[in-house]
Amino acid sequence: MITLKHLSKVYRTTEVETAALRDINLEVAVGEFVAVMGPSGCGKSTFLNIVGMLDNPSGGEYWFGTQNVAGYSESQLSELRKNTIGFVFQSFNLIDELNVAENVELALLYHKGISAGERKTRVRAALERMKIAHRARHMPQQLSGGQQQRVAIARAVVAAPKLILADEPTGNLDSANGEEVMQLLTELNGDGTTVVMVTHSHSHAEYAHRIVNFLDGAIVTENVRQLL
Ligand SMILES: Nc1ncnc2c1ncn2[C@@H]1O[C@H](COP(=O)(O)OP(=O)(O)O)[C@@H](O)[C@H]1O
Ligand SMILES: [Mg+2]
Repeated sequence: MITLKHLSKVYRTTEVETAALRDINLEVAVGEFVAVMGPSGCGKSTFLNIVGMLDNPSGGEYWFGTQNVAGYSESQLSELRKNTIGFVFQSFNLIDELNVAENVELALLYHKGISAGERKTRVRAALERMKIAHRARHMPQQLSGGQQQRVAIARAVVAAPKLILADEPTGNLDSANGEEVMQLLTELNGDGTTVVMVTHSHSHAEYAHRIVNFLDGAIVTENVRQLL
């Protein structure tokens, strides 16, 4: 699904230049569950943002299927992204002014040709799948962190993406809610969705097929877990 070749990212400000990613070479197959680990500041979020087409690399190739998207314009990237990728963030990133159902529906509004009735059906299905349909009319601030993250996952999956990118999805959750989020991501992966997840938790990384370790913007080790 994803092939990165000699991928690099440099952030330039007037004073400093930061090499956030250096010579990243990585393949992610369809249906894989990959965990990304490494100390703070080593480039994990930069990596996820580039894989998620929210940002462009400074150099190298990014093959998504048969397309090298490294040189794509912002509009080309957003067109491809909305049809293929769902995001989950550490801080949930729900919109406080919208209720639960509206937050999830927002992810479908970018898709032309989905009727209002179809949107409602899909939102309900996604909320039911995440076991949060009973809170559809609540506002995000009325929910616990674990519930908010379930809403965020519903939003990530409502457009049926092929790839889910999660940046420390359990980072703001207690262990019970963190485990629940890991169960949900594992279920989605079991249904065929490819998952790439950044985490600081070794136990949560154990849910993945493979752990990729970053250090100072480079991949230092890859551990393929023994699958039963
Ligand atoms: N928008 C930005 N502008 C300048 N430097 C950035 C920006 N985003 C990240 N960086 C720098 O790039 C490096 C990698 O950051 P990041 O990808 O956020 O790491 P991680 O997610 O592993 O903590 C850090 O040194 C960080 O300060
Ligand atoms: Mg980060």
